[in-house]
Amino acid sequence: MTELIDGEEIAADLRSELQAAVDSLADSGHRPTLATVLMSPDPASETYVAMKQNDCEELGIDARDIELDVDEPASELFDVIDELNDDDDVDGILVQSPVPEHVDYREVLERIDPMKDVDGFHPENVGRLVAGYPRYKPCTPHGIQKLLEAEGIETEGKDAVVVGRSRIVGKPMANLFIQKAPGGNATTTICHSRTDDLAEKTRDADILVAATGIPEFIDGSMLSEGVVVIDVGINRVDADTDKGYELVGDVEFDSASEKASAITPVPGGVGPMTRAMLLYNTVKATGLQEG
Ligand code: GUN
Repeated sequence: MTELIDGEEIAADLRSELQAAVDSLADSGHRPTLATVLMSPDPASETYVAMKQNDCEELGIDARDIELDVDEPASELFDVIDELNDDDDVDGILVQSPVPEHVDYREVLERIDPMKDVDGFHPENVGRLVAGYPRYKPCTPHGIQKLLEAEGIETEGKDAVVVGRSRIVGKPMANLFIQKAPGGNATTTICHSRTDDLAEKTRDADILVAATGIPEFIDGSMLSEGVVVIDVGINRVDADTDKGYELVGDVEFDSASEKASAITPVPGGVGPMTRAMLLYNTVKATGLQEG
């Protein structure tokens, strides 16, 4: 039997644990506060930021919503970041990407106070993760670790194959898998668009994480019996539905389910965990602020 991993349920458990932490921080005089900064007219980015704001409000985390016109100079965004860095009431800062082309995203990431970098994208936080003493783990790979833990899926000694090498998912996921820590100690292979004979590598996986952004890129023929499949993709493809599209993952669900011992659905698998981990990092940030 293939188990469907319910990310919504695991995320809800996590949010109720966080609720207690938020309440106790608020009682002791400092309600956790997250500032989101959006500098994009992209409707998808607007939706993502609105969801993050909603998640915060549901838990009683203060959410500050800062929106900048796309035509503003980069210096305007940097001034906003500087102000948020200096504001003792703000615990976490998240600048939604992508930013406009005239803004260097690398400079943005380096500008955010690493203690408030709840995405975990500042080079100092990336460096700490790679070195094995993470401060903030990036939300998606951290959420995947929590999913596996909640399902009682051991990583130690397993062959983990990560397909995708992005800064947000693939690279940090692989780094977490190789750490000498719970949720780590896996023998880890990173595959990507230039990998020769991908199926040969993916068939070695006990745990497969698909994060390519390519709809249904991995199918059942590329998997071995009993694999645990974690699908990070969320892709809109044209379909004969009311909306004119449907959401599919980076994995072809039906054929992969025939091989997998456990698999995440899309939607309802990794997505809710990513959102919950942002709340987790924001609560953690509150504990890291001075005063
Ligand atoms: N754009 C898409 N995903 C993310 C994310 O996790 N963090 C930020 N800041 N921007 C994003």
